Amino acid sequence: MRPHSGNDAAVGSRSDDPYALMPRHGPLVDRYARVHDDLRISVTDRCNLRCVYCMPEVGMQFQPPAALLSFDEILRVAEVACDMGVSSLRLTGGEPLVRKNLVNLVSRLSKVGFKDLSLTTNAMLLTPLVQSLSDAGLKRVNISCDSLQSERFNAMPRRGDLATVLVAMDAVEAAGLSPLKVNVVILRGQNDDEIIDFASFARRTGRVVRFIEFMPLDAQGQGDKTQIVPGREIFERINACWPLRAIDVGGSAPAERFTFDDGQGEIGLISSVTQPFCGTCNRLRLTADGAIRNCLFSDNEFSLRDVMRAGASNEDVARVLRQAVWEKFPGHAINEPRFLRPVRSMSMMGG
Ligand code: 5AD
Ligand code: SF4
Repeated sequence: MRPHSGNDAAVGSRSDDPYALMPRHGPLVDRYARVHDDLRISVTDRCNLRCVYCMPEVGMQFQPPAALLSFDEILRVAEVACDMGVSSLRLTGGEPLVRKNLVNLVSRLSKVGFKDLSLTTNAMLLTPLVQSLSDAGLKRVNISCDSLQSERFNAMPRRGDLATVLVAMDAVEAAGLSPLKVNVVILRGQNDDEIIDFASFARRTGRVVRFIEFMPLDAQGQGDKTQIVPGREIFERINACWPLRAIDVGGSAPAERFTFDDGQGEIGLISSVTQPFCGTCNRLRLTADGAIRNCLFSDNEFSLRDVMRAGASNEDVARVLRQAVWEKFPGHAINEPRFLRPVRSMSMMGG
């Protein structure tokens, strides 16, 4: 994304101005009329696990602490975004709970006025913090868990353990944070034999299990499409065991939601690769080092950190957000030959 000129009047008067038709007020809208009301903020690129589809086992490079946005800077972006109609805020990483004093950040963010404030976590550090997070105003948690077999933790997240994740799930529910969603990335040949086990887990526990297609965004660049298990296949395998019924919610949620025909439990399918939902995408991302990204798959980003550290006003911050959204492509083109892997991997931009 091009740096803005800092002068709206001058920009508006030039006929080659890419932002000539961009609204100066109102909600964050792009050229395709998609309104952006969902912001994901990555609070760190670090993680205490090394999931195979995300990071190499050793040698991952992380940002130095000074490169990360401070809590004050995060809060400032959040406040400006909220004023521009963003109603849903999710904290991500890396692993957000490895950032010190996250409860304090949650407490400050909960006063900004978002309708929804949630966290995506691998749950390794969650149990001792969950009550304070809830007290601080967190509304919901998504827990990543790719296997229900404890010995598989050596192979998929490579670190951590299943028992800690399961205890954390109970703790989340005890703290009243609901609904609890469980994110499962299914990889062909690694955990696709657990699809039915996870469906059964959803039925047994009432937790919403969301099956996520692998996206080629791993830092090591080794993931290939043969590892993807299409959402359709997951649907068919579960439906053959327990018939599923679609929940029609409309809107921009990426997950296709299903209940089991007997009413017991819910699953979601997030088929980002085989059935892209770009047409209704309402998401904007802030990376841990303060770059605004309008799409996981597009390297078109702009450093809000540099703008803020150069002394920008809130109006300047708002303009960068508006321009970032305006520049968004209609779709990610991941299935086309011209597709280029993004420079940043998933943990560097937030899931
Ligand atoms: N493909 C799909 N999902 C991924 N996640 C991380 N990397 C990938 C990937 N390459 C998921 C994690 C977590 C969420 C933040 O994103 O499992 O649930
Ligand atoms: Fe960590 Fe999440 Fe990446 Fe796994 S997917 S290594 S939990 S950031």
